[in-house]
Amino acid sequence: MPHKKGRVFSGARPTGRQHLGNYLGAIKNYVALQDEYECVYCIVDLHALTTVDTTENLRQNTYEMALDWLAAGIRAEDSIIFVQSHVPQVAELHLFLSMVTPLGKLTDLPTFKEKARQQPHNVNYGLVGYPVLMAADILLYKADTVPVGIDQEPHIEFAREVVRSFNFRYKTNVLVEPQMKATEFPKVLGIDGQQKMSKSLNNHIELAATEAETTQRVMQMVTDPQRQRRSDPGNPEVCNVFSLHKVFSSPDEVAMVNIECRRAGIGCVQCKQLFARNLNAHLAPFRQRRAEIGRDPQQVWDVLDQGRQRAAAIAEQTIAEVKAAIALP
Ligand code: TRP
Repeated sequence: MPHKKGRVFSGARPTGRQHLGNYLGAIKNYVALQDEYECVYCIVDLHALTTVDTTENLRQNTYEMALDWLAAGIRAEDSIIFVQSHVPQVAELHLFLSMVTPLGKLTDLPTFKEKARQQPHNVNYGLVGYPVLMAADILLYKADTVPVGIDQEPHIEFAREVVRSFNFRYKTNVLVEPQMKATEFPKVLGIDGQQKMSKSLNNHIELAATEAETTQRVMQMVTDPQRQRRSDPGNPEVCNVFSLHKVFSSPDEVAMVNIECRRAGIGCVQCKQLFARNLNAHLAPFRQRRAEIGRDPQQVWDVLDQGRQRAAAIAEQTIAEVKAAIALP
């Protein structure tokens, strides 16, 4: 294996079929990082338990997400893809880290406060410990690089602090301070053109949707709100369709849309049709691979089990070092 720059770790909650926001915000980046780093990608089902009120879709959502990752180009031969709960050492490390974590630091985090506001009926202990579990994920695998969205910055900063506290308290250097690698793509808006794309808001475009479904969703996209009639000139800078053209259309097409929209030379319908065509062309190989792999679901579970074995080997080693550092008898 060629020499790699270091180890990447990232995790995402099992949300089932992935959408364009997941793709541009995370998956595309996960795929690209495989060339330069040793990558560990985790489906964080334990984190999901902090907010879900039913677990009935957990297994299916885990499967669908893993399938999308593989179809998008995460290579099981190179990278470790696994399910968080399959490697229970993370719970053990979480406990050790909790002993060097001041409670106030957790309750002060903006991410915690927001969740507590969203679910006042369920401010559970696990929710407070969410960043501790996330730190345990990263530190268990001694990852030095963590690709995440900018919203996760306080969690990465917490992980760095907990490394310093742990190493200081036990006079060791077993834990490694991770660096955040912010994903370049800013937040992807939903088809409403207002809010971040998300399944719960139902403003998403699923990667695995059919061509017809995708076109239908694209045709529903909200464009420049000031452009009400076909004859009104538009402003591509405030149009969500244009921002996605920049990702999926050719430079010539982007230049054309940019000019023609401003002088009402092209209408929103035509502009969206062009985008839908390009998006569908881009997703065609993904969909084909998804259908191939999905023909045998056991393949996906096998990949996750191989991932579990490789992840467990690293985790066991780290836990042994951590226990030795603490001087547990
Ligand atoms: N908290 C992350 C999110 O909501 C998910 C996550 C859990 C994660 N463990 C992680 C991300 C470890 C990076 C590394 O997006």
